Amino acid sequence: MTRITIPRLREMQAAGEPIVMVTAYDYPGARAAERAGVDMVLVGDSGAQVVLGHDSTVAITTDELLVLSQAVRRGTQTAFMVSDVAFGTTESSDAQAIETAVRFVKEAGADAVKLEGGNAARLSRIRAIVDAGIPVVGHIGLTPQTATALGGLRAQGRTEASAARLVVEALGVQEAGAFCMVVEAVPSEITAVLREALDIPIIGIGAGPAEGQVLVLHDLLGVTEGRTAKFVKSYGTVGADTTEAIAAYAAEVRSAAFPGPEHGYAATPEAVAAARA
Ligand code: KIV
Ligand code: NA
Repeated sequence: MTRITIPRLREMQAAGEPIVMVTAYDYPGARAAERAGVDMVLVGDSGAQVVLGHDSTVAITTDELLVLSQAVRRGTQTAFMVSDVAFGTTESSDAQAIETAVRFVKEAGADAVKLEGGNAARLSRIRAIVDAGIPVVGHIGLTPQTATALGGLRAQGRTEASAARLVVEALGVQEAGAFCMVVEAVPSEITAVLREALDIPIIGIGAGPAEGQVLVLHDLLGVTEGRTAKFVKSYGTVGADTTEAIAAYAAEVRSAAFPGPEHGYAATPEAVAAARA
């Protein structure tokens, strides 16, 4: 397969071919996504929660996201790789936003960066990064980095004011130069309106039908413990399988069933004698 490019994503949109995106945070995850033939991988700041164990996305740093992005890059040959920028690393100025985005391209080989939000300041940042020659993915609706200001991790676009604001933000993000847009936790009727209003593809998560879909890898694998968002569908039991495998190993160590002779090395009688001497 050849590498996925922005023109290829546009072709897919024009042909009505759904765009498949999944998050990845390390080499094996990226390899699995690649083997499964996904179109785009997102090194999400959700890694703060699903791989680093924080209780929100805001804790992750650029240095941490760079390590994850570098590992994903090594495992990704054809999929288009997008890296999230960390909260607090683009907010201060357009210059800061460019510096941050440049690091993901130079140090991790990101194909694009993703920025949350669509207010005037965010549009200025998107424009600045795009003008610097770095493709940007927008992200509107539920934006976890600023969820406190949104009143918590809750669906957006359910009231008149919120729905109207989403349309303004979506058009603004597109106008600022984003080549596609994640729309998170928005009623499907509102997503339908956004799809009509926009030329660029929407990658939905909890947003109903769209040009593409994204899920957090650990959610779809069934690794995430406890309650997941309403929009998550689990396609695997990797969490339970992992626990079971480790428990089986622990039991065999404790019963001395492992290691067996087949897991060891042979020595010559002379070597054994020398060791005893
Ligand atoms: O960080 C993330 O995983 C995301 C997706 C949910 C879109 O931003
Ligand atoms: Na994110």
